[in-house]
Amino acid sequence: MDLLQAIHERHSVRTYEDGPLSNDHKAALNRLITTFNAESGLHMQLVTDERKAFGGLKANIGRFSYGRFKNVKNYIALIGRKGSDLEELCGYFGELIVLEAQTLGLKTCWVGGTFRKVRKAFEIDDGEKLVAVIAVGYSDLEGKPHKSKGFNEVSKTIGVMPDWYARGVEAALLAPTAINQQKFVFELNENETVTATTKVGPFSKVDLGIAKCHFEIGSGKDDTIWAG
Ligand SMILES: Cc1cc2nc3c(=O)[nH]c(=O)nc-3n(C[C@H](O)[C@H](O)[C@H](O)COP(=O)(O)O)c2cc1C
Repeated sequence: MDLLQAIHERHSVRTYEDGPLSNDHKAALNRLITTFNAESGLHMQLVTDERKAFGGLKANIGRFSYGRFKNVKNYIALIGRKGSDLEELCGYFGELIVLEAQTLGLKTCWVGGTFRKVRKAFEIDDGEKLVAVIAVGYSDLEGKPHKSKGFNEVSKTIGVMPDWYARGVEAALLAPTAINQQKFVFELNENETVTATTKVGPFSKVDLGIAKCHFEIGSGKDDTIWAG
């Protein structure tokens, strides 16, 4: 499975099997985290066998009611130095881990609000912040496709456009977003770069990083595609 296929097959899964992660899967996730920490400067960490963060808490954010989590005891803590780009970086690199995890047969769910911060479970250095976590584990469940906005609701460019741009936006529409808000907006510029922005919403900057990750994979472009 490649990352584009993972984009199509990934849905949030909140119920996991009770067994531990295999040593191979732990090692694979730790390798990804080490690589992406080096590339991004983030301080992401894999937490295993820790049940307190998801001790049966059920939360409501706005009018959107989340489902209960079951058997979450492994998660990736997305931590980094406070700054204006922290949320977007966590979104981008966290989603790369999510998609790689999907190719390894693991299931995931991004979690911004409905978990307890267990301080002893991870390291937060001075000047750093925990942005969100990603639950990870085994499950027979696949999740289900989210209700999605239409292409023209998230793209200012309509009508004739290059295929790569359309594929990028389609891949972004498959991205997980907090409360499924899909507040990101893409626009193709005359010099064939793309501007990606977001409307205001909870975790919308994290969502923007996730959506840009999907756009790059869907379009086949790298990060030089972004204007500014
Ligand atoms: C930044 C972010 C924060 C999220 N926070 C939570 C959360 O606190 N609790 C939860 O159950 N789901 C959370 N989700 C999962 C979203 O509800 C889910 O991604 C969205 O409904 C789309 O569904 P899908 O992931 O199956 O495509 C979060 C997702 C993102 C990207």
